Amino acid sequence: AKDTKLKRRKKKLFIIAHRGASDIAPENTFAAFDKAIQTHADYIELDVQLNRNGELVVIHDTTLERTTNAAGPVKNLTNKAQKRIDAGSWFHHSFRNERIPMLKEVLKRYSGKVGMLIELKNPSLYPGIELKLAKELKKHLYKQTKNTPFVVQSFDHQSILKFHKFLPSVKTAVLIGFTSPINVQEIQSFSSYANYVNPHFLLIDDELVNMASHFGMGIFAWTVNHSNIAEKLLEMGIDGIVTNRPYLFKK
Ligand code: G3P
Ligand code: CA
Repeated sequence: AKDTKLKRRKKKLFIIAHRGASDIAPENTFAAFDKAIQTHADYIELDVQLNRNGELVVIHDTTLERTTNAAGPVKNLTNKAQKRIDAGSWFHHSFRNERIPMLKEVLKRYSGKVGMLIELKNPSLYPGIELKLAKELKKHLYKQTKNTPFVVQSFDHQSILKFHKFLPSVKTAVLIGFTSPINVQEIQSFSSYANYVNPHFLLIDDELVNMASHFGMGIFAWTVNHSNIAEKLLEMGIDGIVTNRPYLFKK
């Protein structure tokens, strides 16, 4: 068992910038993604939903209040209004020019330059979002390299299964909240349509790491903002940490 642990420790730990470098720039904006890349994150993580025009947009909450100067549900947001809304000042006035990005803009700017962990956020509110995402990613597949893959994740596992059927060549992940411990049967079933199981870090122990590895699944832990926690997880042999502070972990 010791040998296996040592072997695991030699693996590279991917640093995944949660909503970009969201500790130092407004989440899910170009500013946050640029900062993540400047600090050599391996992946950027971002949340996608649909606006009123049926476009894939990059924002975490289902409403605009917390991260913009506007209000109301994302699904009522028009393309026109989206271009005007300020998605940066809530964080700091120096970010007043940041906008809610369209996914197509984010793909154009970053695909092939960094790994992309794309979360289908509340997909049950947006029928058809899985097919839309599959079609959009298809256009950029040729830019993927070993170091700059797409991974699509969601807490809604049925949505991941649906996406996987539309575009099996893109890797997928199931997100697990910290109140939902997982058993071996569940991991086995996840492994039939997903490459990663991504739990809250408090759920991760040696047993979970062994179960995932038994079924050929990787693990990305969220949200890890302190190096002592990252070190423990690295020793357990996980594959990546999702963090608001990517700049802390690059050695
Ligand atoms: O990548 C994991 C994490 O993003 C899941 O939670 O709420 O930040 O989207 P949340
Ligand atoms: Ca997310």
